Amino acid sequence: MPSPSALKGTSLILLLTGCVDQKFRRCPPLATTSVIIVFHNEAWSTLLRTVYSVLHTTPAILLKEIILVDDASTEEHLKEKLEQYVKQLQVVRVVRQEERKGLITARLLGASVAQAEVLTFLDAHCECFHGWLEPLLARIAEDKTVVVSPDIVTIDLNTFEFAKPVQRGRVHSRGNFDWSLTFGWETLPPHEKQRRKDETYPIKSPTFAGGLFSISKSYFEHIGTYDNQMEIWGGENVEMSFRVWQCGGQLEIIPCSVVGHVFRTKSPHTFPKGTSVIARNQVRLAEVWMDSYKKIFYRRNLQAAKMAQEKSFGDISERLQLREQLHCHNFSWYLHNVYPEMFVPDLTPTFYGAIKNLGTNQCLDVGENNRGGKPLIMYSCHGLGGNQYFEYTTQRDLRHNIAKQLCLHVSKGALGLRSCHFTGKNSQVPKDEEWELAQDQLIRNSGSGTCLTSQDKNPAMAPCNPNDPHQLWLFV
Ligand SMILES: *[C@@H]1O[C@H](CO)[C@@H](O)[C@H](O)[C@H]1NC(C)=O
Repeated sequence: MPSPSALKGTSLILLLTGCVDQKFRRCPPLATTSVIIVFHNEAWSTLLRTVYSVLHTTPAILLKEIILVDDASTEEHLKEKLEQYVKQLQVVRVVRQEERKGLITARLLGASVAQAEVLTFLDAHCECFHGWLEPLLARIAEDKTVVVSPDIVTIDLNTFEFAKPVQRGRVHSRGNFDWSLTFGWETLPPHEKQRRKDETYPIKSPTFAGGLFSISKSYFEHIGTYDNQMEIWGGENVEMSFRVWQCGGQLEIIPCSVVGHVFRTKSPHTFPKGTSVIARNQVRLAEVWMDSYKKIFYRRNLQAAKMAQEKSFGDISERLQLREQLHCHNFSWYLHNVYPEMFVPDLTPTFYGAIKNLGTNQCLDVGENNRGGKPLIMYSCHGLGGNQYFEYTTQRDLRHNIAKQLCLHVSKGALGLRSCHFTGKNSQVPKDEEWELAQDQLIRNSGSGTCLTSQDKNPAMAPCNPNDPHQLWLFV
């Protein structure tokens, strides 16, 4: 039998002291929850470890049931053997999605058979920590429109140990996104730190990871569950994040609720129809929720842009109707009120695309994994955006800004890439990050007065010379 390590010796050190002292009402009791766990070819040990950890850490009075939703697994151990095994656990049952349709429809199936007032979604490779559920349910009891996530602790992929907590003052994170619509984590901005009265206080989060959360069942239905035409996996958490905030709800991380999660280095999801399903899901969410800001995304994902143009992302009329019906705020409201720290690139940059050199017919390229600091290169123009994507902005900096905002600059005569100094608020473009695009196709740096050139197949700076084709560039 799997024995959850949380019970084997990990001490309460994972919990903040303020959390240990929290009391939860008994009368009337908190609403019960149905825990919904979707799995696809999950290992027996991790799946059962998740189930046992829920059973061991959740007061029986709060746990209505555990629903295991099989997204058409092919592994033999997850069939009859699993059903027989969980029968002895009384409150656990298996429902099956016969065809592989992915996480979203599997969760919807689980929700449709759930009997409790609150739905709690977990991944199939988690380990709940002592007292994880009560703070989530208590917050929902206070306000039904809050969608709450636990604080997620990493379980080591190889040893299955909980990550060592940082003693005293754990660093909290919240969810964000970038303009390629990828979810990420960031540290809390100062105003969020000030708003929270103490360390047990909920953290407002612009987006959520979406794997582990609790939501009132009636609110889940009110807010439009999931977009059931999204396929397999990907983008559904960002979609739900925008939707919840724009339509009057809130996303919070509850620091007193701790759940361990195995972060895998490789996605276990196979995409029967290829990874274009992620782009398709993202186009659906951009079309429904992002208004004209969707253009910023499309410039960074040409596959998505093509789908949007060809309207090959399926019917979204029901989702648009939902947005109408719920009188949801627009995306500009979301950016201003929920995520004011987000840098919004030009909606219509002066130029964007690849920068082609007329002397070599090659394109300016940041190279692999350049997050600033590495030298740029010249490379065959591939027309895919990515490492060859640049924007010349209205404030006249030259950005490679798919995920991070990175700017071309010239220091000590050399061309480089670094985090942009202009961040929108109370900031200016320094002269060494400012560029002039002259009629004669020169790209001149204001600070140094030198021009971008392709020298020995590498980008460099040189005294401006409009007669040198290696100094002539074209946005393509
Ligand atoms: C978005 O909503 C705000 C009010 O929250 C409104 O002032 C603004 O004009 C709206 N923007 C668009 C593009 O509709």
